[in-house]
Amino acid sequence: MTLLSVQDLRVTFGTADGDVHAVKGVSFDVAAGETVAIVGESGSGKSVTANSLLRLNFGADVRTSGRILLEGRDVLAMSEDEVRAVRGRDVAMIFQDPLTALNPFYTVGRQIAEAYEVHHPGTSKKDLREIALDSLRKVGIPEPTKRVDQYPHEFSGGMRQRIVIAIALVNSPKILIADEPTTALDVTVQAQILELIAAMQQEHGSAVVLITHDLGVVAEITERVMVMYAGRVVESASVVDAFATPTHPYTRGLLKSVKSLDTGRHERLESIPGIPPSLIKLPSGCPFHPRCSFASSLGSRCSTEVPELRAVGSSSSACHLPNERLLDLLGGAHDR
Ligand SMILES: Nc1ncnc2c1ncn2[C@@H]1O[C@H](COP(=O)(O)OP(=O)(O)OP(=O)(O)O)[C@@H](O)[C@H]1O
Ligand SMILES: [Mg+2]
Repeated sequence: MTLLSVQDLRVTFGTADGDVHAVKGVSFDVAAGETVAIVGESGSGKSVTANSLLRLNFGADVRTSGRILLEGRDVLAMSEDEVRAVRGRDVAMIFQDPLTALNPFYTVGRQIAEAYEVHHPGTSKKDLREIALDSLRKVGIPEPTKRVDQYPHEFSGGMRQRIVIAIALVNSPKILIADEPTTALDVTVQAQILELIAAMQQEHGSAVVLITHDLGVVAEITERVMVMYAGRVVESASVVDAFATPTHPYTRGLLKSVKSLDTGRHERLESIPGIPPSLIKLPSGCPFHPRCSFASSLGSRCSTEVPELRAVGSSSSACHLPNERLLDLLGGAHDR
C-alpha cells in the first residue's frame, strides 16, 4: 500500500546570488512499513526533499511545486492547520543534531509529554507521565523514573538522540523521517541508534525515510535506496542491487568511497574526483558529466542532454550509457 507518493517535486530558493534549484523533479513512493534511504553528497537536495514532506523549508523566497500525497492528501495543498496536525502525528522527523532538537530548559519527560499532548489534548498528567516513562524505556534509557525529570544536558549525545527518537515515536507516526540521525555520534553509538530505529520501526510498523551520505549506514537497515545528485534522483534500486550492480556512475563512485564493509580493512577511501556542481548554474546535460569517467565515451550527448530515469535491470538509472554497458562496467564496482 502506498503511504506517500512524491510526484515531480521541485524546490527553488530565490537568493541574492540567483535562484538555487535545490530539488529538480524528484518522484518516489514509500509503502507502509518500508524503509527507504536517500543518499548523496552534501548539497544534493536530501534535506530539502525531506523538509518538503512536512513543509519545513523556510526562507524569504521558497518556491515549491509538484505533489506530496500522504494517503492521497496533498501536503502542499493543505492549510497551515492541516499541516500542523500532520506534523509529529502522521509524519515525524528526527534531525541530525540531538542538541538543537531538544529544548535545554525543559525536562526530557516534559518534552515527550508535550509532543503527545499536542495531538491528544485533555490527557491527564498522570497518563502523560506514564507515557513519557514508557517512551524512555522503549528507547533503552536506563533508570527511566530518575531520568524522566532530568534536562537534556544531563545526557550523553547518544542518549539525547534516543530521547529525540522517543519524541518522534510517541504518537506512533506512519512515517518517520530521519535526516542524518547518526552523523553527530561516534561509531559504536551510531550502530546502536540504527538498531534502535530498525527495532522501533518493526514495533510501530512505521515507514522510515533515512537520509544519509553514508552508504554503509544504508546497508544496515534499509531495503531500497535513492541516490540523489544535484537535486535529482539518479538511481533508485533495492539495496542489494545498488551494492552488487550499481547502475549509475555516481553510485559506483559513492560505493568506492565507502570503507570496505566486508573486509573491515582500513583502506584509503577513494573519493569521487571533482566537486558537486553549483545549483545556481548547473552544467548543461547530465549534471554529473564533468566528473564522470564514462562521459567522453558517448561523444557530446552527456554534455547536452539531461538523462531521464529509466529501467536498467531491476533498478532505475538516469544515465545515457546503454544498459549492457552500465551493468557490465558498474557491476564490477566491487573489484577492489
Ligand atoms: N533556505 C534555503 N535558502 C537557500 N538555499 C538553500 C536553503 N536550504 C537549502 N538550500 C540549498 O539547497 C541545496 C540543497 O541543500 P540540502 O540541505 O537539501 O542538501 P543535503 O543533500 O541535505 O546536504 P547535506 O548532506 O550537507 O545535509 C544546497 O545548495 C543548499 O545550500
Ligand atoms: Mg542535509
